[in-house]
Amino acid sequence: MTQVDVLILGASGYGGGELLRWLSTHPAVKTLRGTARSHAGKPFHAQHPNLRGLVDGTFEATPDWEALASSPAPVIFSALPHGELGKLWPELEAAAKTHPGLLERLIVIDLSTDFRLDTAWVYGLVDWKPERMAGAKRIANPGCFATALQLALLPLAQWQPAFVAVTAATGSSGSGAALSETTHHPSRAHDFKAYKILGHQHEAEVLRTLASLGWEAPLSFVPQSAPMVRGIFATVQFPLPAGLDTAALKAHFEAFYQGRFFVRLVDGSPRVAATVGSAFAELAVAAKGGHGAILVALDNLGKGMATQAVQNLNLSLGLPEWTGLRSAGGWPA
Ligand SMILES: NC(=O)c1ccc[n+]([C@@H]2O[C@H](COP(=O)([O-])OP(=O)(O)OC[C@H]3O[C@@H](n4cnc5c(N)ncnc54)[C@H](OP(=O)(O)O)[C@@H]3O)[C@@H](O)[C@H]2O)c1
Repeated sequence: MTQVDVLILGASGYGGGELLRWLSTHPAVKTLRGTARSHAGKPFHAQHPNLRGLVDGTFEATPDWEALASSPAPVIFSALPHGELGKLWPELEAAAKTHPGLLERLIVIDLSTDFRLDTAWVYGLVDWKPERMAGAKRIANPGCFATALQLALLPLAQWQPAFVAVTAATGSSGSGAALSETTHHPSRAHDFKAYKILGHQHEAEVLRTLASLGWEAPLSFVPQSAPMVRGIFATVQFPLPAGLDTAALKAHFEAFYQGRFFVRLVDGSPRVAATVGSAFAELAVAAKGGHGAILVALDNLGKGMATQAVQNLNLSLGLPEWTGLRSAGGWPA
């Protein structure tokens, strides 16, 4: 098995912490380092107390290019806020270029929006045409809402329903580790509200994928902020194509996701708590009269982020996609 040396940019954030957690036990990871500005010099467990005693290491202020250059298989995960890797990219390229061959060997997986619409990068929606990831060196990991929505919508593309109404609720960790009014416990813990109504930034990547299948989907997306820490629960409703009922819709989804280890079809409702802390997404379907509904639950920091990024690394390296990821979360969450 190829052994990789990993650097996580923005390792002190929520995504960085999840990457440290999953990659620390990954059999293909030889070394694990992480950068952070405000926590440089502190141990990983100063920001991620769950890693104390398990994941040794210290946040570094800047990437150690010598260490990456000396690796036969260097990997960067960027868990920086939106816009930051895009700004940093010319500098990173210039630094990497001082080490012959490094840029060509280097795998970069970005968790932000920066390169999701950039055709020079592979769009890392891992359960859709996973063969695209084989050998990929630049992967743009999808957004958490965008992952949930596309898992629901892609199997519908062959019918191109005339209208799709989506509501999707997210937990507070979706906003990252920095403190803000919207994640402040008193204003969040006992509230439930919509935000960025009909105007969420993840629509663009969803519409782009569907357009690539010839579906100019009339999507109406209302994101919601739910009183939970992790998780996304999406409800997608659409006019049911003629001849379909719940059993036929379920059979279609099962066939569509056959062999996709981390997508599981359930009866009734998916459970956010059944996916939290794991790499799984759960889907359920329902149909009645002329109406169809697809329900999706996943962990925004897992399938919506870090575990999808690790799955992408696995596929890029030619490893089974579940390598280092075959684990359930806790129950109850
Ligand atoms: N949270 C989610 O559910 C989720 C899901 C999918 C994708 N994403 C995307 O993944 C990326 C990481 O998300 P996250 O939730 O892990 O974010 P986060 O918790 O806010 O972490 C951001 C990290 O970047 C570092 N950083 C470096 N330059 C920075 C700058 N100029 N401003 C602020 N922080 C900076 C921060 O630490 P220092 O300040 O110490 O450097 C921190 O380690 C984001 O692009 C986000 O949109 C998030």
